[in-house]
Amino acid sequence: MPADTLLTFSLLSFLAWRSKAQFTSSRNFYPAAYPLAVRSPYLNAWIQSPKDTTTFESWPYHWDDKNIMGVAGFVRVDGKSFGWMGDTSSENQTSLVSTEVTPTRSKFTILAGRVQLNVTFLSPIEPSNWVLQSLPFTYISIEVATTDGSPHNVQVYFDTSAEWVSGDRSKLARWTTTVSDGTAYHQATLFQQSSMSEINNVAEDSTMYFGMASSSSSSWQTGADAAIRQQFIRDGTLNNTMDISFRAIKDYFVVFAHAVDLGNITKSSSPTVWSLGLVRDPVITFSAGVNSHARSPYFLTHFSTVDDAVKFFIKDYKNAVKRADELDFKIMKDASVISSNYADLVAFGARQTMAGIDITVPRGTDGKWNMSDVKAFMKDTGTSQRINPVEGLFSAFPAFLYLNSSLGGLLLDPLLEFQAYVGNRQFSAPDLGSYPRATGNTSNANNTALESTGNMLVMALAHAQLSGDGTLVSRYYDLLKGWTDYLSAHTLHPQNQHSADGLDRSDQSNLAIKGIIGIAAMAKISKALNRESDYQTYSAKASNLSARWTKLATSGDHITSVYGDSQSRPLVYNLYADVLLRTNVVDSSIYSQQTRFYKTLTTTAQAFGLPYDDIAQEAQDFAKAPWTIFTAGTVTQNETQGRLSYHLPS
Ligand SMILES: *[C@@H]1O[C@H](CO)[C@@H](O)[C@H](O)[C@H]1NC(C)=O
Ligand SMILES: *[C@@H]1O[C@H](CO)[C@@H](O)[C@H](O)[C@H]1NC(C)=O
Ligand SMILES: *[C@@H]1O[C@H](CO)[C@@H](O)[C@H](O)[C@H]1NC(C)=O
Ligand SMILES: *[C@@H]1O[C@H](CO)[C@@H](O)[C@H](O)[C@H]1NC(C)=O
Ligand SMILES: *[C@@H]1O[C@H](CO)[C@@H](O)[C@H](O)[C@H]1NC(C)=O
Ligand SMILES: *[C@@H]1O[C@H](CO)[C@@H](O)[C@H](O)[C@H]1NC(C)=O
Ligand SMILES: *[C@@H]1O[C@H](CO)[C@@H](O)[C@H](O)[C@H]1NC(C)=O
Ligand SMILES: *[C@@H]1O[C@H](CO)[C@@H](O)[C@H](O)[C@H]1NC(C)=O
Ligand SMILES: *[C@@H]1O[C@H](CO)[C@@H](O)[C@H](O)[C@H]1NC(C)=O
Ligand SMILES: *[C@@H]1O[C@H](CO)[C@@H](O)[C@H](O)[C@H]1NC(C)=O
Repeated sequence: MPADTLLTFSLLSFLAWRSKAQFTSSRNFYPAAYPLAVRSPYLNAWIQSPKDTTTFESWPYHWDDKNIMGVAGFVRVDGKSFGWMGDTSSENQTSLVSTEVTPTRSKFTILAGRVQLNVTFLSPIEPSNWVLQSLPFTYISIEVATTDGSPHNVQVYFDTSAEWVSGDRSKLARWTTTVSDGTAYHQATLFQQSSMSEINNVAEDSTMYFGMASSSSSSWQTGADAAIRQQFIRDGTLNNTMDISFRAIKDYFVVFAHAVDLGNITKSSSPTVWSLGLVRDPVITFSAGVNSHARSPYFLTHFSTVDDAVKFFIKDYKNAVKRADELDFKIMKDASVISSNYADLVAFGARQTMAGIDITVPRGTDGKWNMSDVKAFMKDTGTSQRINPVEGLFSAFPAFLYLNSSLGGLLLDPLLEFQAYVGNRQFSAPDLGSYPRATGNTSNANNTALESTGNMLVMALAHAQLSGDGTLVSRYYDLLKGWTDYLSAHTLHPQNQHSADGLDRSDQSNLAIKGIIGIAAMAKISKALNRESDYQTYSAKASNLSARWTKLATSGDHITSVYGDSQSRPLVYNLYADVLLRTNVVDSSIYSQQTRFYKTLTTTAQAFGLPYDDIAQEAQDFAKAPWTIFTAGTVTQNETQGRLSYHLPS
């Protein structure tokens, strides 16, 4: 299998989602929720799939489904208004005709009276330009056409609320509107921000921006939700006035609105585009050394003010669309080679994965941006506040390797720097603390030692191999070597170890082989850095352990979940690392054996695919997309690979 295919095979979200949701075997893809504005750990808004597919029944929510992120969309056709998003009124219903998810976009086709709306939520992915990637902004665009071919009089409207800036809606907010350089944008923030903190997963130190290119046909207004929306419904235009009675978010919910009068049209000549963003600065504090320091979003190295960045983003829409088209096309083309279900999953996972990270830079001692200290941080979104959760990073790593392998290095860097500095452990920590304060994890608990240490060695080599950049492996060689010695001593018989899946029985085969591949990875690192004697030591060690592992872990025709338990049938997804890194430390017969075995399993698989392990009761009912795909990447037979990736959890 070519490397490109392998990489593509694993491009997906680090979020594993519940299995027994609806599964469709066709190109129609019905996720439980659609990503709307998904761009950073805190700009992460979704909308629940409509039950009957005709209309959205809920407001958009933050990813956790706990906080409404108020937005409302209306279209006015020949004087009659239709709510197409966020409006709970059943009057003047719109109907959702179709949906489409691409790596960067969620597209909705909506019928409202005599017009059809194409509404697109674009969350750009900009892997090869970190200024653009770190801009925490998204686009919402609307194209309109009449359904009867005759001209109709059309106005469109969209608003947001101050709900975006706090998880506690009784807090006081303030806001303003700026009209300048051909743009008009609102911004809102808390009266008193709480720096570096979150409530109900929502950041308490953000500023929301919502704007558009202004023209003679656009208008804006801020004020109480009911009044502003009624204003549009009645007149189809807004007053260009600002409500300045600052108050609690939920006190006559202030909304920030923009409307555009499209006039008498049969088809809009260009899309109406709004930009929505959530900016935090600093985004994280990090300590590896005496002082903890604040780190800013990378885009500030290019723009002198956030306002400049907002205006740039608003004006860059056409170019952003072009880049998004190219990326969507490339990703979907690569993923479709495997299967259309796989392509759907990749489309769904790509922006989720990229929105998990913040690319950051600090000020140097000279007060200037320190461009030689760029680091990225990932939030364990969906599960916890953990920073750079090593097992989550591992499951997402192929996505970074595919999109821009250097991003993998930015994410490994702070984990390595902190641990080299602390230097009190022989194994890797599982994370760097809790978002947004990366204080590091100094716990000495060793129950995730094998999982984390194996993952770190595998990722360190993968990053070096794919980026051609040996800086990290060479700078942290001694740290990695210490970790390899730890694996050499402990990995063959995992004791009191907690796997990424929460399994903790002794002698877990899948965990043991990860550690062994980690040692083989270090052998390759040593070789590349001309440490010949380390290379000899570690490659011999890895081969020796691998041979012993094969005996211990095999029972009859398959690898067992724990040594000797012949009834267990795990997905040995950690073998994927051996394939990816070309360490070739695992006997090739294991791959053909497992391929035959998975082939048998897939014949009786449930619609959601294969459980990742069938030992623990809970594991029997769960499939995890990343592990299913990693496993598919280890399968040597095209047909079985197809079946694994066909039966995907969705
Ligand atoms: C529905 O349309 C009527 C006019 O035909 C209007 O008075 C009413 O406010 C509209 N309702 C909504 C929710 O837009
Ligand atoms: C990755 O991003 C960096 C920073 O923008 C860029 O210099 C590099 O060319 C990119 N690499 C790839 C493979 O796109
Ligand atoms: C809306 O999308 C459909 C399907 O992609 C397309 O055929 C149609 O031309 C679009 N309408 C407008 C007004 O752009
Ligand atoms: C907008 O202006 C019109 C005309 O002055 C006024 O009647 C209306 O109440 C205003 N709407 C709002 C929501 O302030
Ligand atoms: C749109 O058409 C209506 C009647 O068809 C007309 O009264 C109105 O002036 C037109 N508006 C514009 C902006 O052309
Ligand atoms: C598997 O083989 C079939 C037939 O040779 C081919 O059409 C398909 O593209 C292959 N699939 C993969 C994933 O290589
Ligand atoms: C920039 O960061 C590097 C790496 O952390 C550090 O060695 C250097 O001293 C920093 N430069 C300044 C001017 O602070
Ligand atoms: C830190 O490490 C310990 C021990 O491995 C682990 O239990 C904990 O979840 C980690 N993360 C945080 C944020 O405490
Ligand atoms: C974990 O720590 C315990 C207590 O310090 C020790 O007995 C045990 O050998 C350690 N296990 C591993 C795998 O490091
Ligand atoms: C692994 O190494 C041990 C100790 O050097 C040796 O006794 C054993 O025979 C080796 N096993 C294999 C399978 O190479």
